[in-house]
Formats: sequence, structure tokens, C-alpha cells
Amino acid sequence: MVALAHKSPAGRIDVQQLTIRLGQGAQAFTAVDQLDFSVEAGEFVCILGPSGCGKSTLLGALAGHLEPAEGILRVDAQAVHGPSPDRGMVFQQHTLLPWRSVLDNVAFGLKMQGLGKAERRTQANEFLRLVGLEDFAQRWPNQLSGGMQQRAEIARVLINRPRLLLMDEPFGALDAQTRARMQELLLEIWGRIRTTVVFVTHDIDEALFLADRILVMSPRPGRFIEDLRLDFPRPRHSSLLTSPEFVHLKRHCLALLHHQDGRELPRLTPLGLPSDDFPPLRIAL
Ligand SMILES: Nc1ncnc2c1ncn2[C@@H]1O[C@H](COP(=O)(O)OP(=O)(O)O)[C@@H](O)[C@H]1O
Ligand SMILES: [Mg+2]
Repeated sequence: MVALAHKSPAGRIDVQQLTIRLGQGAQAFTAVDQLDFSVEAGEFVCILGPSGCGKSTLLGALAGHLEPAEGILRVDAQAVHGPSPDRGMVFQQHTLLPWRSVLDNVAFGLKMQGLGKAERRTQANEFLRLVGLEDFAQRWPNQLSGGMQQRAEIARVLINRPRLLLMDEPFGALDAQTRARMQELLLEIWGRIRTTVVFVTHDIDEALFLADRILVMSPRPGRFIEDLRLDFPRPRHSSLLTSPEFVHLKRHCLALLHHQDGRELPRLTPLGLPSDDFPPLRIAL
């Protein structure tokens, strides 16, 4: 039996005073501003925010693709400097190599580690089974549907047993039904491989359906304006999307995304009670 996950517990994130600036000269601007947060090993966190608020920038810094202007990022107490297969990234568009079979694409990370061909294939088949693609190992990437390509991409990243699975709107290009299926599949996979997931989205339903915790970002420069912990039971099913608790939290997230700087932040009230009876929400990060 192939071990699917990193030695646990692994994947704790500690970020202090993280500021990232982008652009050159007069065009330079602050993309994310003084973020402070921690993520427990094995937690599933969604970063929710409007388009352009700096979500991809933050994820790029966690991946090691971007150097912060200020602050420090640590994963399992080690400072992040540069990319590593230990922090696997899945984008909206897959990065499978078109001239390699699905199997060889998934096995590629192990080739980089110097493993022999037979071992690479055994492990790649195991990860293809994990994402439900065992019957498509010999296909070319362009013979797969969009959803299947993203499944292969997830297998390609997970075969490196990353401490962090970083996902940047990974299902954003898929149709609604495929997207819903992929969300359920991702939770199923995560149930088996309890790696830390940081999942970026601007879709409230997606964040509420997936996460243990949602960090909501303000418009640019991105700052966290809410740290929401969700205790919807798992496994989660589509019926959750119409439950009163879900709709209640969705309304709160909508208010946060529409919040204008300088105004008092919308506060989360217990379900069924009028909002004015409660003091402003304290944001503990
Ligand atoms: N390399 C770059 N140079 C200049 N501006 C950039 C660069 N990358 C992103 N931006 C800008 O920085 C802001 C934050 O971008 P991004 O992190 O991609 O936002 P999000 O993922 O939340 O939509 C956006 O306004 C975007 O246009
Ligand atoms: Mg983005």
C-alpha cells in the first residue's frame, strides 16, 4: 500500500505582518497589507475576497513565487523562500504537459525525485485511483474533459505529498455541475489525505461548502476583515447549501464582500436574531 500523505502532522502556516508590493516605479502598489494569521496543520481554509483584492498574490507568496516586501511566512516553522513541491499549487488552468500521458504527468514529480520507473507508475496509478481516473492513465491530457484535467492536476500535485495544497480558483473554469462534483471529490480526497488546504475563491457558496474556516479579504490592498469558523458536519452534501445556517452565513459573507471601507464592519449575529442587539464583531486572527 502506497502512503498517500506527508508524515503528519505537517502543514502549519504562520504568517506575520505580511505585506506584498507589486508593480514597478510609479506604478508600484501594495497588493496585500500586513496580514497576520496562522493555519493549523490539516485545516481546510478558504480565502474569500472580491476580484483583484490580492488572493492570488497571497497564495503566490505561500507557494514561494513572490517575495514579500515585509513580514515573514513560515510553514512548519521554516521560512518560505522560493517554490517547493512541498507546497503544491493548483491553478484554474491545468499545467499538464500535452506530450506526456496522464500517467506520466502524474508520475513526473517522482521522476524529479529520482525514483525508478516501476515505482513511479505504481504510485501514479494509486493517485489516479484516488481522483477516480484509473481508467484514463494512458490518455493524453487533451483527451480529458476540463473536470478530469483538474483531477489529474490534483493527483500530479498530491503525489509529492505536499505539506500544503494551494488552490487558486481551481474549479473556476468548470460548468456548475462539474464544479459541484469536483468540490465533493476534493472533500473526499482531503478526508483521506489530511494535508493543509488553502483554497482561494470569490464564490461564497464554494467557500462555505468546503472550508473549516473562511478568511474574508477586503478590496485592494487586501486585509482580512473576517475569520469565520464553520462547524457544518462532514461529510458535506449539496443539501447543506439550502440549510438555514448556510443561508445565514452566506448573507453575512455577502455583506462583508459589499462592505465599503471606512464603514463599520457587518457583524455576524446568531441565527434568527436581529443584528442590532449585538456588539460589533471582533476579528481574532
Ligand atoms: N505582476 C503584477 N504586476 C502588477 N500588478 C499586478 C500583478 N499581479 C497582479 N496585479 C494586480 O494586483 C492586484 C491583486 O491581484 P491578485 O492577487 O491577482 O487578485 P485576486 O487574485 O484577488 O483577483 C490586482 O489589482 C491585479 O491587477
Ligand atoms: Mg486571482
